[in-house]
Amino acid sequence: MAKHKITLLPGDGIGPEVTAAVVAIIECAGVDVEWEKFFVGAEAIARFGDPLPAEVLASIVRNKVGLKGPVTTPVGTGFSSINVRLRKALDLYSNLRPVRSMPNIKTRYDDVDLVVVRENTESLYAGLEHEVVPGVVESLKIITERASTRIAKFAFEYARANDRKRITVVHKANIMKLSDGLFLQCFRNVSKDYPEIVADDRIVDNLCMQLVMNPNQFDMLLLENLYGDIVSDLTAGLVGGLGVVAGANIGENGAVFEAVHGSAPDLAGQNKANPLALLQSAVLMLNYIGENVAARKINDSIAIVLAQGPERRTRDIGGTGTTSDFTAAMCETLRGL
Ligand code: NAI
Repeated sequence: MAKHKITLLPGDGIGPEVTAAVVAIIECAGVDVEWEKFFVGAEAIARFGDPLPAEVLASIVRNKVGLKGPVTTPVGTGFSSINVRLRKALDLYSNLRPVRSMPNIKTRYDDVDLVVVRENTESLYAGLEHEVVPGVVESLKIITERASTRIAKFAFEYARANDRKRITVVHKANIMKLSDGLFLQCFRNVSKDYPEIVADDRIVDNLCMQLVMNPNQFDMLLLENLYGDIVSDLTAGLVGGLGVVAGANIGENGAVFEAVHGSAPDLAGQNKANPLALLQSAVLMLNYIGENVAARKINDSIAIVLAQGPERRTRDIGGTGTTSDFTAAMCETLRGL
């Protein structure tokens, strides 16, 4: 019997390609995993009539950990986002995105090292929209004391465990005095239990400007759902884009690790997609399941491979190589460590 059982959702578009690459690299790192693989999204609708079949949720609940590729979400109509449904159904309330400059990926700034924590279950993502009268729609922003307090606790606990010195909560409480005001107040209340960590705040529009001009002034950011969605992509852009940043959705009873990028239909099926983002998420996953040595080896190998020629990395990060070239380079390096 394998040491770990992990639910695997390859997704669609470039999902199956980057997932296969990451599964191969984890195997090369010597981690013994039995993958429980499922279709989700359009493929699951075609086969089972549901984009997120109940057995998928049951598998994640059983295994307590999942690795997920991107899934296409129809715009304006059709089924609602699998990602949002998964987070809600499993109460994966914390979205964690460490954002770090990568060796040999040239960007505007060096030494960016931020951690973005996004509340994953509320705000405008509650999806409570309705048409009041024809031509007028209403979308409700939900913020609760319970969810705001637990995400603030998650952020401070993460800071304590990972030796982070400062958390900046991000809001628009000057305009949304009640909703963002409550999020801010909960953060301030929780901060009293962590006197060694500096707790401050920024208004979201100012934060965006500050991040673009001088990202290194921040350490950790805590945001409600919608601001977190937008700002975390902005921070990904600071270190090389969506193709290189890790993401994890964590709750009390399990976690789903996923690339932060989408299904990139423009690249699907062409062996061009960069598996690095999903690989970095898999590194977070390996740490989560206690495979710290393998996680470190993969991290070291990433640094080595990125320091090699352009033929060993994909085009989105200035390379000339394919998905398979990067995967082969990673496995070769891992075997040599
Ligand atoms: P996208 O992330 O798929 O693509 C944006 C740009 O980044 C494209 O130019 C794409 O080629 C590039 N890109 C993305 N990932 C890459 C990778 N690994 N390697 C190299 N280049 C990469 O975002 P877009 O176009 O907004 O969304 C496409 C679909 O993905 C939509 O249906 C959207 O709903 C879905 N999506 C799913 C997510 C998920 O499952 N977690 C997250 C974001 C979007």
